[in-house]
Amino acid sequence: MWIRTIALRNFRNYDSLDLELNPGFNIFVGSNAQGKTNLLEAIYVLSLSKSYRTARDTELIKHQAAQTRIEASVQRIAVLDLAVTVSEYEPKKLELNRKRTNANSFIGKLNTVLFIPDSLQLVKGSPGERRRFLDIQICQVDPIYRGSLLKYQRVVRQRNSLLKSGYNQRSLLKQLPVWDNQLVGLGSKIVLRRQEALTRLNKISRSVHTKISGGLEELSVIYQPFFQKGQNYTQLSLQEIRDIFFGLVQEKKQQEIRRGYTLVGPHRDDVAFLINGANIKRFGSQGQQRTAVLSYILAEMELMSQETGEYPVVLLDDVMSELDRKRRSFLLSVLNEKVQTILTATNLSGFEQEILKTASVFQIQSGKIF
Ligand SMILES: Nc1ncnc2c1ncn2[C@@H]1O[C@H](COP(=O)(O)OP(=O)(O)OP(=O)(O)O)[C@@H](O)[C@H]1O
Ligand SMILES: [Mg+2]
Repeated sequence: MWIRTIALRNFRNYDSLDLELNPGFNIFVGSNAQGKTNLLEAIYVLSLSKSYRTARDTELIKHQAAQTRIEASVQRIAVLDLAVTVSEYEPKKLELNRKRTNANSFIGKLNTVLFIPDSLQLVKGSPGERRRFLDIQICQVDPIYRGSLLKYQRVVRQRNSLLKSGYNQRSLLKQLPVWDNQLVGLGSKIVLRRQEALTRLNKISRSVHTKISGGLEELSVIYQPFFQKGQNYTQLSLQEIRDIFFGLVQEKKQQEIRRGYTLVGPHRDDVAFLINGANIKRFGSQGQQRTAVLSYILAEMELMSQETGEYPVVLLDDVMSELDRKRRSFLLSVLNEKVQTILTATNLSGFEQEILKTASVFQIQSGKIF
């Protein structure tokens, strides 16, 4: 899929922008603070209905304005028109082909993978960071997963408030089973789906990483569900997951009552990144960590195309300067002719002539594009 046109009104430092994009490379060049990241953010909002930079939608509205609107037309088998409107005083409006719609039907219409300097958090950050990456990936291709995830999170919150309520042991033991069943039912589906995605991501990112590292490094991306940490993951069936989960819920119940929150479930999952068997969160060099993230993101792109039949749009913010020449040219050659790539840079020095020949290059200055 690719974005044909994009239009911004009062979005961050943009007044009014109308752009036609190239189905291949689109390079946005500009000095610091001119609006490069803002543009990628706008595209991301069209993909996932919210920003990755802020949880407060109204920050997207240009200062002094009351409303912002982002629109794009996306070429898939048919052309889809997407729009997001954020206003100071009204709820956010999502539109698909000019009809209002909800987040669940909106997400997945424009699929993206995002690679930004902060993506290094995928390996360096907390388990929550890794779960977020994984969830964003799966939610884009699987609305049912997104539904289960939202329900599961609600169940955990409600179960926690019951555990914290101060009710006596007897009344807790009477009320908890209803929540336990929902926790295990929804949670097991989440585990199963994450297991499936990671098994495939592991396979693809391993082969990508072998190529980038010139055959020197073997990358493994291993699911670490809350009930089983370690280097070997064995595939489980839904029933097996349920049984383990249910057993742990019973086992930890007394402890949960004492501590006042839910101790077991996929909200405690993690993912391990290993290079040649060593966990790179602790043992990897900066360059290895960066390359592992790159391999993983390219794997996400392949997985999305396997699952939807179309490649997502790739958004790269300021990453060229972070990669050495070899990795840069590997990345660009993988993307070339396969996907629409929208990338930002402060200058064009990292791009080979071959790429520049076919790319559209835009200069950004103070929210205007030349
Ligand atoms: N809601 C807003 N209204 C108006 N201007 C905003 C708003 N939010 C951010 N800005 C402005 O947008 C500019 C930053 O844009 P952006 O983050 O896209 O820069 P950039 O080109 O990516 O720069 P860098 O190369 O430093 O990453 C800043 O000048 C900031 O003040
Ligand atoms: Mg930026």
